[in-house]
Amino acid sequence: MGRLSGKVAIITGGAQGIGAAYAVGLAKEGAKIVIADVLDGQKAVEAVKKAGSDAIYVKTDVSNQEQCDAMAKAAQEKFGSVDILLNNAAIFGSIVLKPFTECTSQEFMKVLEINVLGQFNCMKAVFPHMKAKGGKIINIGSSSINEGVPGMPHYVASKGAIMALTRSMAREMGDYKINVNTIAPGFTHSDGGNNFDKNKKLDLPPLEELQLQARCLKREAVPEDLVGLALFLASDDSAFITGQMIVHDGGLSFH
Ligand SMILES: NC(=O)c1ccc[n+]([C@@H]2O[C@H](COP(=O)([O-])OP(=O)(O)OC[C@H]3O[C@@H](n4cnc5c(N)ncnc54)[C@H](O)[C@@H]3O)[C@@H](O)[C@H]2O)c1
Repeated sequence: MGRLSGKVAIITGGAQGIGAAYAVGLAKEGAKIVIADVLDGQKAVEAVKKAGSDAIYVKTDVSNQEQCDAMAKAAQEKFGSVDILLNNAAIFGSIVLKPFTECTSQEFMKVLEINVLGQFNCMKAVFPHMKAKGGKIINIGSSSINEGVPGMPHYVASKGAIMALTRSMAREMGDYKINVNTIAPGFTHSDGGNNFDKNKKLDLPPLEELQLQARCLKREAVPEDLVGLALFLASDDSAFITGQMIVHDGGLSFH
C-alpha cells in the first residue's frame, strides 16, 4: 500500500516539467491523478499509468474560474474524491529575461493572473470537494523570492504573492482540516527551466551556473529531486503542518 493509496490528486501544469514528475511520484504512492493543463497532457497520463496508477487529462486554463470548477468536478466524477491539489501551473519557461524597463504592464499583469489568481481559482474550485473531509493543498512558489533574480520582476513578485496567499488560505481552510503549504524550488532542469538561457535579453551567465556556485549542495537539480517534499506535504505525515513555505533549492537560500 502506497502512502497515498485511495487519494486523488489534481496537478495543474502537469503536462510537462516538474508537474509531470510530481504526477509520477504521487502515482507511485498510489494516488489517482488528474492532469490539468493548457497543453495536451496525454503523455503525462501515460506516464502515470506506466507507474501503476490511473489518470485523466482535463484541459484547463487556471486563470479561468469556470474551467477550474470543471477540473475539480471531473476529478470528483471520475475518481470519487478530491484530496490533493498541487497548484503547479505557472508562466515560467516562456519568460524572456530582460531589463525591468522593458517589462510592460500587460506582461506583468498576465504573469500575476496565471501564477497567483490561477492558484486562487484552483483553491476555490477544490474547496467544495474537500470541506467535509479535509485535504492537502500544495502551492508551488520559488526560492527566487529569497534572493531575487534579475530580468523577471513579475515572476518573482508572483511567487512572493503565493507565499502570502498560502498563509492567508491556511488561516481560512484550517477550520476544514485543509492544509495549505508552499514549496519553493530553486533552478531545476525542467522543460521550462531549460528555456531561459536560450531566450534571455540580459547579459547574464546561465542561471544554473549562478545558482550552482551559490548552493550548499553543488549539483544540478532535476524535477525528480523535488518529488519527496511534495509527497510529504500530500501525505498524513504532514498533518500538523500548514501555512508554511519550505525552500527546496539545495541550500541556495535560507528562509
Ligand atoms: N524549473 C525551475 O527552475 C523552477 C524553479 C522554481 C519554481 N518553479 C515553479 O515550478 C512550477 C513548474 O515549473 P516547470 O519548471 O515545470 O515549468 P514549465 O514551464 O516546464 O511548466 C509549466 C506548466 O504550466 C502550464 N501552464 C502554463 N500556463 C497555464 C495555464 N494558464 N493553465 C494551466 N496550465 C498552465 C504549462 O503548459 C506547463 O505545462 C512552476 O510553478 C514554476 O514557477 C520552477
